[in-house]
Amino acid sequence: MFSNQSTSNLTRTISPEALGAPPSGIVEVFTYGWGRPGLIPLWAGEGDMSTPSFITEATTRSLAAGETFYTPNRGIPDFRAAVARYMSRLYGQEFSPDRFLCTIGGMHALQVAMRLILSAGDEFIVPSPAWPNFIGCGKVIGAIPVDVPMGLTNEGPNGRWFLDVDRIASAIGPRTRAIVINSPSNPTGWTATRAELEAVLALARKHGLWIIADEIYGQFVFDGSARAPSFHDVMEEDDKIIFVQTFSKNWAMTGWRIGWIECHPSLAQSAENLIQYSSSGVATFLQRGAIAALDHGDSFLHHQVERAKKGCDIVCEGLSKTGRVRFAKPEGAFYLYFKVDGAKDPMGIAKRLVDEANVGLAPGSAFATGEDAWLRLCFARKAEDLAEATARLVKALS
Ligand SMILES: Cc1ncc(COP(=O)(O)O)c(C=O)c1O
Repeated sequence: MFSNQSTSNLTRTISPEALGAPPSGIVEVFTYGWGRPGLIPLWAGEGDMSTPSFITEATTRSLAAGETFYTPNRGIPDFRAAVARYMSRLYGQEFSPDRFLCTIGGMHALQVAMRLILSAGDEFIVPSPAWPNFIGCGKVIGAIPVDVPMGLTNEGPNGRWFLDVDRIASAIGPRTRAIVINSPSNPTGWTATRAELEAVLALARKHGLWIIADEIYGQFVFDGSARAPSFHDVMEEDDKIIFVQTFSKNWAMTGWRIGWIECHPSLAQSAENLIQYSSSGVATFLQRGAIAALDHGDSFLHHQVERAKKGCDIVCEGLSKTGRVRFAKPEGAFYLYFKVDGAKDPMGIAKRLVDEANVGLAPGSAFATGEDAWLRLCFARKAEDLAEATARLVKALS
């Protein structure tokens, strides 16, 4: 009989990297609260809108036309040309399609990027709080994450997270190979200034390090500008920078699992080989939908950014009223990362808020070490839900 026992001697025989792969810190609270009637789920990194029909229809047309065969590992030429068009439009410079390869979402792009530059025993620096997958993804390769806390000026509407470049510099050792920079940031909403990007780039150049740039929330900024500062604004063609990107957030395509990696064309063959031996490419019909998103998705994206901006105001203004909540107002992305004064156990408080407010939040322990009760709230949702969730949280926390 095949039992469902979760413990067996077999676990001792799998690779140490697989055994040591950290479970996601968000899953525990998700499992705790999942399925409760009336729960407002603000724990995951996705909004409440489904993919717009101009995208899904491009995919169904492709399926109907029989585009169901193996696909080029780099992505179909039409896809790579569409990414180049989109990037050229967004950054005001010419991009060659040779720089882009299609991946299974941003997560796979990160995996390919890390496998391109990290070997077992190499160190990589991650400013924290950080999206946990940077650390988990490096660890399964056997690389060693080095957590460098970010700075926080006074907590409050005028507070700001900032990159502590001196601290990063002192974390660099002989095995350091890379720095991961995620701006705008999940979970803090910190958005790097051009000067911060220049400072990291100077450090990377000085020490011969790679930068993995995760700018997937680059257009989710709330200061009225079209996009956040990017390494594209400050880099030279042959700088050691690899970008990970995704369709997930911009065009409400989290479940599609499609994104891209951008690297110097001289690395593209190696990246293609890594794709061959991991996913062997992304379905052509998904790429057709993605092309529609790139070519015709600007107004949908702008609508989402406007909605997130309003959502940000609703939750920030509401939670400030508790007098017990501290945060730096997010400059970008779609998360509020806040601390509950005097509380110590982030997982405990996240579960308590499920019980008492029927609101699902992610515990800060998923993003940073330390015992203070930080929580992450995703505000990519309709205003009524956010207003209701905020009212419930205010009641439970006051
Ligand atoms: C900072 C960051 N990078 C990458 C990703 C990965 O996105 P995808 O859903 O495309 O794998 C996420 C998803 O939450 C993210 O927050």
